Amino acid sequence: MKKSLYSFLTLAALTTIFITGCKVETEKKETKTVASSQEDLVKRGEYLVTVGGCDDCHSPKVFGPQGPAIDPERRLSGHPENVALESVDKNTLKSWVLFNAHNTATVGPWGATFAANLTPDATGLGTWTEEQFIKALREGKFKGLDNTRQLLPPMPWQSYAKMTDDDLKAMFAYLKTIKPVKNSVPAPIAPPDLK
Ligand code: HEC
Repeated sequence: MKKSLYSFLTLAALTTIFITGCKVETEKKETKTVASSQEDLVKRGEYLVTVGGCDDCHSPKVFGPQGPAIDPERRLSGHPENVALESVDKNTLKSWVLFNAHNTATVGPWGATFAANLTPDATGLGTWTEEQFIKALREGKFKGLDNTRQLLPPMPWQSYAKMTDDDLKAMFAYLKTIKPVKNSVPAPIAPPDLK
C-alpha cells in the first residue's frame, strides 16, 4: 500500500514538472512573436516581397543566356523612365495583353500601364506613410490616398488585399530599406492615346 502511494506521488510530481515545463515553453514562444524586433519585421518583409513576385513587374531586367533576370542595380525601381513604349498593333490588343521585355510595361484593353517605383527614393515610396501603402494594396488606391484613381491591371492588388496588416507593414518596412533609385515612372496611357 505504502509503495503504491509513493509511486503515485512520484508520478504526480513528474506530471506537474512536465506540464509546467510545457507552459514555460509556450509563454516563451508567445513573447517572441509579440516583441519581434524591427530586424525580424524587415526579414519577413523581404520574404513576402520575394514570394509575392513584386520583382516580376516592378524590377527592370538584364538579359543573359538564361533570359531576363532582375537587374540588382535597379531592383524594384519600376518601369525605366528612359524606355519608351514600342508602338503596338491595336488589332492584336483585341485578344491579347502584351508585356514589354522587362515586364514593367503592359498594354491591354485598359490602355498602357507602367509598374511603379517601389524604392525609398522621392520618385518612389520615399515620402509614403505606412497607411498609404496599406490603402494602396487593400483598396487599390493610387498613391494610397483617398480621392485618387483606382490602380489598373496588371497590379494584382485584389490578391494582396487579403494579406494581414502585419504582413503589409512588414513589406513596407523592408521596401524602406532597399537601395533608393531615382526613376519617375510614366503615367498610364488611355486606349485612344496608344500609338
Ligand atoms: C503583374 C505585375 C505586377 C505585380 C506582380 C506587382 N505589381 Fe505593383 N503595380 C503594377 C503596375 C503595372 C502598377 C501601376 C498601376 C497603375 O498605374 O494603375 C503597380 C502599382 C503598384 C503600387 C502603387 C504605386 C502608386 O504610385 O500608387 C504599389 C504600392 C505596388 N504596385 C506594390 C506592389 C507590391 C508590394 C507587389 C508585390 C507584393 C506588387 N506591386 C506586385 C504591376 C505589378
